[in-house]
Amino acid sequence: MWGGRFSGETDKQVADFTQSIDVDAHLYKYDIAGSIAHAEMLAAQQIIPEKDAEQIISGLKAIQNRIEAGEFQFDPELEDVHMNIESALTDEIGEVGARLHTGRSRNDQIATDERLWLREEIDELMRLVVNLQRALVETAQRFPEAILPGFTHLQHAQPVLWAHHLLAYVEMFERDRERLADCRKRVNRSPLGAGALAGATLPIDREATAGKLGFDSVLQNSMDAVADRDYILELLGALSILAVHWSRISEDIILWASQEFAFVALDDAFCTGSSLMPQKKNPDVAEIARGKTGAVIGALNGMLMTMKGLPLTYNRDLQEDKQGILTALETAKSVLGVFTPMVATMTFRQEPALKAVSDPFLMATDLAEWLVRQGVPFRTAHHRVGGLVKYCERNDRAMNALTLDEMQSIIPEAEEEALSLFDAKKSVNARTVLGGTAPSCVSKQLGAWQQYFAELQ
Ligand code: ARG
Repeated sequence: MWGGRFSGETDKQVADFTQSIDVDAHLYKYDIAGSIAHAEMLAAQQIIPEKDAEQIISGLKAIQNRIEAGEFQFDPELEDVHMNIESALTDEIGEVGARLHTGRSRNDQIATDERLWLREEIDELMRLVVNLQRALVETAQRFPEAILPGFTHLQHAQPVLWAHHLLAYVEMFERDRERLADCRKRVNRSPLGAGALAGATLPIDREATAGKLGFDSVLQNSMDAVADRDYILELLGALSILAVHWSRISEDIILWASQEFAFVALDDAFCTGSSLMPQKKNPDVAEIARGKTGAVIGALNGMLMTMKGLPLTYNRDLQEDKQGILTALETAKSVLGVFTPMVATMTFRQEPALKAVSDPFLMATDLAEWLVRQGVPFRTAHHRVGGLVKYCERNDRAMNALTLDEMQSIIPEAEEEALSLFDAKKSVNARTVLGGTAPSCVSKQLGAWQQYFAELQ
C-alpha cells in the first residue's frame, strides 16, 4: 500500500509485530459499512463517478458475504482489517477499487469502525444488565418476607429484608446502565472524514457519512477525531464499575452460600463439585466472576497507561486499544449471561437466617430509638443501651430475656414495652423511612421496578 516510497521489503518480524488483523478482523462489518457510506458520499459529491461507487459498493457487499460464509482468508501481511478489505476489493473489481480510499485515512477509518462496534456492544450490554436486574427483582419477589442480618464491617448490624438487599444491587446496576447510556452519546459521534489528521482538500461531506452511519453528530476537530480514545477509556471505566458491582454481589452470594451463613442455596446447575471431597458444592460461578473483575480493571489501567502522554495526533500506540476493550466486553457479557439464571434460581433458607436475626443485639438500635421516642437524647440513649449490651455480655444474659428490673438498673427510662422490641420482624416492619427496609417500602420498590422494566419495551 505504501510501496511507492519504499525500495525494500518489510522485515518479516516487523510485519508480524505491526499487524493487527488478529484483533481487528472482527471489525469487518463496521469497516465495510463505513466504506459503503464513504463511497456513496464520494459519488454524491462528484469526487468519484457514480458507476464506480456502485461497483465499489457491490464489491464490498460481496466481500462481506464471503467473510460471513467463511470463505475469506485474512492475510496478516496486509496488516489490518482495512487493508485486507481494500486489497480484496481491488482483487474483486479491479482498478476502480483504488478510488475508495479517497479523502480518507486508516486513522479516521479505525476510529469509525470502533465507534460503530462499541455502539452495538453498549446496546447489547444494556440488555444483559436489564436481564440481570429483572432476575434480581423476580427472586426478591419469590421471597418477599425473607429476613436476614444486614452487615456493616461484616458484623451483624440490623435485620433487613433479603429483597431489600437484592434491590440494592438493582439500583447499582441501574446506574451502570445509565453510565453505559451516557457513554454511548459520546461514542456515537463520527470521526469519518477527518483524514489522517487535518481533513481533506476534496469536498468531503462529513455530515452525510455521519447521517448514513447513524451517528448523532460529527466530531468537530479532525485532530481530536483521530487522536483520542477517550470513548474506549470511558467504556472501560463504566465496565470496571459494573465489574466492581458484580464482584460485590458475587462475594455476598459466596458468603451467603457458605456453611457459616447458610442463608442462600444455589441451584446445583450453577455450582461445581470437588474432584477429591465428595461433599463439596462450590459457588464457582460467583468466584470466577469475582476473579474476572481483575481483567476488566486491568484493561482500564492498561489503556490509561497507553494513552498517557501521547502527543497528538495518531500514534501507532493507539493500535493497542483493541485487545483490552475486547477482553473487557467479552468478560462482561459472559458474566452477565451466566449470572442471570444463577440469580433467578437461587433460594433463600429462612431457618438459618431467622436464627441469625433473632440475636437480640441486632435490635439494640431499636431500643435506642424507642428511648428517643420517650424523650431521651439519642447520645444518652446510645450510651445507655451500650451499657446494657456490656451488662448482658458480662453476665451472659440474653437481652430479650432480661426482666424489667434488670433493664431499669441500667436504663432507668425503660418500660414494659421496651422488652418487646427484640423481634426481627417487628424491627424490619418499623423501618418505614423512605428507602428503608420495611416490607411496605420494599414492595412499593419492587412494584416500581417491575413497572419500569415492563415499560422498557
Ligand atoms: N491498524 C491501525 C490501528 O488499529 C489502523 C490505523 C493505522 N494507521 C497508520 N497510519 N498506520 O490503529
